[in-house]
Amino acid sequence: MNKGIILAGGTGSRLAPLTDIFNKQLLPIYDKPMIYYPLSTLMLMGIRDILIITTEDDFSLFQKLFKDGSFLGINIKYKIQNKPAGIPQALLLSEEFIKNKSVTLILGDNIFYGHDLIPQLKKGFKVKKGACIFGYRVNDPKRFGIAKLDKNYNIKEIKEKPSNPESSYAITGLYIYDKTAVEKAKKLKPSNRGELEITDLNNMYLKDKQLKIEILGRGIAWLDTGTFESLQEASAFIKTIENRQGLKVGCPEEIAWRMGWISKNQLIKIADKYAKSSYGNYLLKVMKID
Ligand code: G1P
Repeated sequence: MNKGIILAGGTGSRLAPLTDIFNKQLLPIYDKPMIYYPLSTLMLMGIRDILIITTEDDFSLFQKLFKDGSFLGINIKYKIQNKPAGIPQALLLSEEFIKNKSVTLILGDNIFYGHDLIPQLKKGFKVKKGACIFGYRVNDPKRFGIAKLDKNYNIKEIKEKPSNPESSYAITGLYIYDKTAVEKAKKLKPSNRGELEITDLNNMYLKDKQLKIEILGRGIAWLDTGTFESLQEASAFIKTIENRQGLKVGCPEEIAWRMGWISKNQLIKIADKYAKSSYGNYLLKVMKID
């Protein structure tokens, strides 16, 4: 079974004071906690074995929210990250969970949305030896890992938050790695900002000619929530789509039911719990939508 990791740790310092006492990944994006979106992405990719990595302080909150995941027809386990030391630390902490298999890692603050998104993400599963990352054109490349590409969209180099970006293609926070990821991550050294860099890990794969990039086109939305503006914009985006279609984005209960992982009765039971919220009404309505 495919395995997935959601990194929901960090200090969220760029969003303080919102994050002074609260985990960033639990902040609301319109009508649900932020982590629902990356969780939904993994679920739509068919991943049912999921490890959530978070801080000691916030661990109990996530556990309260998702328990063992069985109400969603999935397995959720938790791992504590005592001191945030960069994204690759998630792989090091997951060694036992990954058990020498390939793994999909998603950052808990990354929101993906769009038609045909999932088949494109799943192309990454075809990379049996190596890693697959996803590029997306952004307006502010200095804030991300940026890929230099050749004419055929082959990846040449990745630079983390470059001051003079050579392209506008950011590397999104979704990474599919083969079983060598943990061993490679063990060889990483902290960067100038004192963290292990996911860009350095990706560049290791690149050096071995084992890094594939899939470019997500302009019809897809990749939203990040790293600033007050982008947080607010993400909420507005989700609200607009949901209100227009009458369908929710990133609703794990709906996905679990549509995937056939939970029964109609199980979904009704969840809807009952949310009877006073329009979220509950939606779950009841969803069973009638084709
Ligand atoms: C991290 C990665 C960066 C990537 C981004 C995606 O940035 O270091 O390469 O483009 O996630 O969200 P950070 O969240 O540390 O700013």
